[in-house]
Amino acid sequence: MTRGGAVAVVGGGIIGLSIAWRLLRGGADVVVLDDGEPGAWFVAAGMLAPGGEAAYEEPYLARLLELSNERWPSFAAELGVDVGYDDAGTLSLAMTADDLADAARVWTRQKLPLLRPSELREREPALSPRVRAGVYAAAERQVDPRRVVAALRERLAGRIVHKRIDELSEVDAATVIVAAGCGTAALTGLPVRPVKGQVLRLRGEPGLLRHVLDAAVDGRHVYLVPRRDGEIVVGATQEERTDRTVTAGGVHDLLRAALELVPDLAECSLVETTVGHRPGTPDNAPLLGRLGDDGRVIVAAGHHRNGVLLAPITADLIAGLVLDGVADPLLDHFAPGRF
Ligand code: GLY
Repeated sequence: MTRGGAVAVVGGGIIGLSIAWRLLRGGADVVVLDDGEPGAWFVAAGMLAPGGEAAYEEPYLARLLELSNERWPSFAAELGVDVGYDDAGTLSLAMTADDLADAARVWTRQKLPLLRPSELREREPALSPRVRAGVYAAAERQVDPRRVVAALRERLAGRIVHKRIDELSEVDAATVIVAAGCGTAALTGLPVRPVKGQVLRLRGEPGLLRHVLDAAVDGRHVYLVPRRDGEIVVGATQEERTDRTVTAGGVHDLLRAALELVPDLAECSLVETTVGHRPGTPDNAPLLGRLGDDGRVIVAAGHHRNGVLLAPITADLIAGLVLDGVADPLLDHFAPGRF
């Protein structure tokens, strides 16, 4: 039990900051060591999509995603400022007959009724008439990760130290929480690998889109996340690469799919192209819990495509482990040493 003792969180991304905030509220003397490099949160669109992003062969992960999704409304409210939490829901869409055949398997498992093109365009008038079918997922929402991180930084004012950590032996604290995303591999030897994603930001008339759109367009997966201020995030490539290059092919593929889905996007300005690296693990599930025998090091990393969605439950589980010394049974399936 470390209540009141010194806790250092290595990593100032959305996971590290969320854990530190929960710890601070629980009375811990916590500091965040942040290398100043924007993590995956800076690029992320902020889809809260437990159904759309989950692999159904991974029931424990699917459950973790659902539980965290349920915690997002209160997590956002407790931050006390507008973090772009928007509950308009998601339209999952299929453009071609082949796209529909693939998507229908997922939609059947989700038990969501199929909507015809006319019903889809009633909800989302800017959709292309070529969209063949879709479903509405009310529980799949969005938040703006940049606003969330800004709010968390404010909550943790005075507790964030700009410092790059190359070895855990440099950290002087009773408990060390490694929430360093892809950097967790070098610090711990755990199998976290970078999975490159290229993401675009467009800007157009506010209200052009009402929902998050998550679509298959001629076999290509694309999502559009519209913010209230007219920004539309378009993502994302998924590449087993470590470089930070925005490629012509990546931008072309994303824009082609986005414009086929919503032709009026052609009038938007292209305001940002970015690259991030998702922290992937061998089974796509996060690494959560104690590492080693002395109990000093705790890991919270490897959230792959779901770091934003999983921030609230990760924060609660890890804070519970530190503050009360009790491991929630949910953690059993995500032990860092399972590989
Ligand atoms: N969760 C969306 C992505 O990883 O691209």
